[in-house]
Amino acid sequence: MASLNALPDPLSSLLREDGEWVPEHIVESAWLEHTPFAAWLMAALEPGIFVELGTHRAVSYMAFCQANFRRAKPGRCFAIDTWKGDEHAGLYSEDIFAAVDGLNQRYQAFSTLMRSTFDGALPSFADGSIDLLHIDGFHTYEAVSHDFHSWRPKISDKGVVLFHDTEVRDKDFGVWRLWAELTSKYPCFHFRHGHGLGVLAVGPVIPPKIAPLLNPDLAAQDAERFRHHFMQRGGEVSRLYREKFNITPGKPKKTFRSRLLSHIRSLPQRFGAK
Ligand SMILES: C[S@@+](CC[C@H](N)C(=O)[O-])C[C@H]1O[C@@H](n2cnc3c(N)ncnc32)[C@H](O)[C@@H]1O
Repeated sequence: MASLNALPDPLSSLLREDGEWVPEHIVESAWLEHTPFAAWLMAALEPGIFVELGTHRAVSYMAFCQANFRRAKPGRCFAIDTWKGDEHAGLYSEDIFAAVDGLNQRYQAFSTLMRSTFDGALPSFADGSIDLLHIDGFHTYEAVSHDFHSWRPKISDKGVVLFHDTEVRDKDFGVWRLWAELTSKYPCFHFRHGHGLGVLAVGPVIPPKIAPLLNPDLAAQDAERFRHHFMQRGGEVSRLYREKFNITPGKPKKTFRSRLLSHIRSLPQRFGAK
């Protein structure tokens, strides 16, 4: 903590207040390692309206809701997803939505699940109304660029947009390309761990509590301290996940698809084929 005290305020005081926050909802997700930062950001921004595009099993969304719940005056939260999946996340069953709906009961005073396409949900939000938008839908350049530009008018003057998967260059992922374009236009901060998470202030007003973070004059060592802190905290959440599901590091959890593939590959041997 000593090195965090060296960070410019309010970064260091906010980090101290944040304490040992851990997410209650821990299941498989590429977002797990960012959940401590989600809680920090919720406290720093205190958004009146938070919207998430792409929720799936709700690791990110439940972290935001959990952090919102402890605010004196919680803001409104909206999760938008078809809850059907896509080519990157895979197509999934109705059980996923049922589970998220169950988790959401606790937060129903301020949280709404909108089962819709992102485009279909657009008319439900007034222009300039969203203070925090998290974009984590389909990850091609075209899709994420469409999501950003179609939702941009909905963002408030002090609005912040989060992009997940900014570090993924596999397959046809293209968030990194959009991120590279946007960072030359808006104040931003970036985490490399957990597949990459970008924080972008798109409105004319930079929220004061995150202003030092987005300040281009922030000392490189302070930026690294801040990153390191959340990388460590994220690593602890990953460890909790591995303990919960009894996963040995280095030995990936076998998915249904990988079990099916190894079964199919073993068939010729079982039937004595050469
Ligand atoms: C990467 S997952 C979200 C992961 C989630 N944020 C987490 O914490 O693990 C992407 C989700 O976006 C949804 N999705 C993709 N494109 C969509 C679209 N155009 N409209 C609605 N949902 C979409 C998929 O159904 C999928 O559940």
